[in-house]
Amino acid sequence: MVDTVGQVEFENALAIPPLDRGTVGPDGVREFRLRAAEGVTEFTPGVGTTTWGFNGSYLGPTLAATVGEPVRIHVENGLFVPTTVHWHGMHLPAEMDGGPHQVIEPGVTWSPSWTIDQEPTTLWYHPHLHGETESHVEMGLAGLFLLEPEDPDRFGLPHRYGVDDIPVIVQDRQFTSSGQFTTSTRGFVGALGDTVLVNGTAAPYLEVTTELVKLRLLNGSTARTYRFEFDDERSFDLVGTDGGLLEAPHRTDHVQLSPGERAEIVVRVRPGEQPVLRSISPDLGMPGPIAAMNGGSDRLDIMQLRAAPVLEASAPLAERFAEISRMNPSDAANERHFEMDGLQINGQSMQMHTVNEIVEVDTVEIWKVRNRMQFAHSFHIHDVQFQVLSVDGKAPPPELAGWKDTIYTRPGVIYELIMRFEDYADPDTPYMYHCHFLAHEDAGMMGQFTVVEDASTAPKVIDIPSRDDDTAPFTGHGGGH
Ligand code: C2O
Ligand code: CU
Ligand code: CU
Repeated sequence: MVDTVGQVEFENALAIPPLDRGTVGPDGVREFRLRAAEGVTEFTPGVGTTTWGFNGSYLGPTLAATVGEPVRIHVENGLFVPTTVHWHGMHLPAEMDGGPHQVIEPGVTWSPSWTIDQEPTTLWYHPHLHGETESHVEMGLAGLFLLEPEDPDRFGLPHRYGVDDIPVIVQDRQFTSSGQFTTSTRGFVGALGDTVLVNGTAAPYLEVTTELVKLRLLNGSTARTYRFEFDDERSFDLVGTDGGLLEAPHRTDHVQLSPGERAEIVVRVRPGEQPVLRSISPDLGMPGPIAAMNGGSDRLDIMQLRAAPVLEASAPLAERFAEISRMNPSDAANERHFEMDGLQINGQSMQMHTVNEIVEVDTVEIWKVRNRMQFAHSFHIHDVQFQVLSVDGKAPPPELAGWKDTIYTRPGVIYELIMRFEDYADPDTPYMYHCHFLAHEDAGMMGQFTVVEDASTAPKVIDIPSRDDDTAPFTGHGGGH
């Protein structure tokens, strides 16, 4: 069990990843440049850790575009191994998705483009090379992708990046005695660390200068689930989940996120106070001793907020946001079942050439997901944001009542999800669905689906270029390169 509550000094100012709005070219496309490369990061002054980052040594810039805009991202692989970059939560054509089929070889630049066509929200990007996702993310490859509304003032939500709209990428890491990353401390869920980094800053504090501050929480860990709360148990407003705003702020005193999930919360502070964001014993739904081996009893100090002696007034937060139009189960063209058992889904392991599910374009489907184990899993679907119809037959709780792309699947519970596969038919390029515990995904707990015009003629086997043979295996973390 890890317990750092009360022991973290909060001596480092929280790093804010640079906001990158790219540039709009003469063709009206907003263009961005990312370069993945190895570097050295000092999480502790004077101790250099070998890390990977985009346009820097650790993590990447926060990309931002307005909904409705066409975007193009030039991703250069400056590493010595192949990688991919996946736009988690984005609705886009399969060949732009950055999954295991869109490999970027060292020295090569990949330039996907699409038009932002979904609700404003907080998405993120990270590698997705089959079998290597955990290691590439663990080394530091990840960043946020903000989809902004045309009217940023809407609903009184704080929206000044780095001032009252704060990215909070939470990751846990384990360091060796020489200050390198190690993944040697493992539970069934994967690697668990005893040091929390926020935006790559250990022991961070954030100076707050406004009455209301919005935190865009991303669980950027590979395996750890957090149950966020404040040390004084104050309540705050949960305003958004993975794919967009809720219909109304949900007043609560905690929010739990498994790897890959996001939450936007709005917190009110009083002048001069210093509340601490922490994670206390996430409810993993596993039997006690098993939960304890997977972070279920861990207590972690995460970040201190330091409110200024005089705070700038904030606009009042609206009591209601926009209505979410609900997908109707009677419109579903198909119902599929996904049984998670061992490290497989429906008794199958990920095979690059196998299309597990074929979906017809412009249809609504219901996917019923069940974790048959006593251990933790989660379920993430590419391309779509879904709505949760029911959890164990009951209406979803407020935190699962909005748009989601990733959910924690408690042992034994059936999650009924509904989604529309709007467009982008392509019978030859699959999207993924998988457990977002990255070690499980790497071990094959992933399947592929295509979105096609005509399911009766779509291929169930796809050609894949034979790059697998010439790939050098990833050699481990830190040092030795
Ligand atoms: Cu965040 Cu398929 O991944
Ligand atoms: Cu994804
Ligand atoms: Cu899993």
